[in-house]
Amino acid sequence: MTLMQLSNLCKVFHRGDEEIFAIRDLSLTITEGEFIAITGASGSGKSTLLYLLGLLDTPTSGQYHLRDKATHLLSDDERAELRNAFMGFVFQSFHLLPRATALRNVMMPLVYSTAASSSALNEQQQRERAEAALRIVGLQDRMLHVPNQLSGGQRQRVAIARAIVNSPRVLFADEPTGNLDSKSGKEVLALFERLHSEGVTVIMVTHDPSIAERAHRRLVLGDGALIEDRHAS
Ligand SMILES: Nc1ncnc2c1ncn2[C@@H]1O[C@H](COP(=O)(O)OP(=O)(O)OP(=O)(O)O)[C@@H](O)[C@H]1O
Ligand SMILES: [Mg+2]
Repeated sequence: MTLMQLSNLCKVFHRGDEEIFAIRDLSLTITEGEFIAITGASGSGKSTLLYLLGLLDTPTSGQYHLRDKATHLLSDDERAELRNAFMGFVFQSFHLLPRATALRNVMMPLVYSTAASSSALNEQQQRERAEAALRIVGLQDRMLHVPNQLSGGQRQRVAIARAIVNSPRVLFADEPTGNLDSKSGKEVLALFERLHSEGVTVIMVTHDPSIAERAHRRLVLGDGALIEDRHAS
């Protein structure tokens, strides 16, 4: 089933008189359950595309349908609602709250979505969900550590636990292994493969060819355009 349909998507940034075409005329169909790697040179538009797909940013022109929703026509609130209901994000720089424990960091999306939607999870239920997510990433014995008491790989796993705590249908990750040694990188990838096998659509940006080749489809961007779209044989 088609999950995302991009038609002639463009994203233009303005800096003074300068126009930067971060994404140009990009059309693309993504099917539910795919495992996609987005690669390309620095500045080619990978993060911009991920932000557009994840409804964290809006296109300058073109259309983006998520299932039956014309997302380019939605309000900020409507897009935020879709994001909370469907999507999890792992950012390269983690974006963890420095003074909060791993457990509190992972509970954060539940606190937000409960506040936004009234589908009330009480604090105990939020805690249990967050603990379950931390167990999945192997951090059951680090739940009460704050980020600067954790290694880079452990922080990345906290960020992943936070991304999956809402049981998203789509997981986005921007260079999820970029700051990790190769062993931690492999663990993160194994985790993504497990989520994918459970039906989650995984879309990740990576510079690392050995990571990209594990994905089932590779999108290569060049100067904001899609220059290659290859399914693994
Ligand atoms: N907020 C912004 N304002 C102006 N230009 C921007 C902005 N965000 C991105 N750009 C420009 O858009 C282009 C694409 O940026 P993007 O961050 O998507 O690249 P990337 O492929 O993720 O690069 P990297 O591999 O270095 O992370 C770049 O030329 C960048 O300078
Ligand atoms: Mg980037």
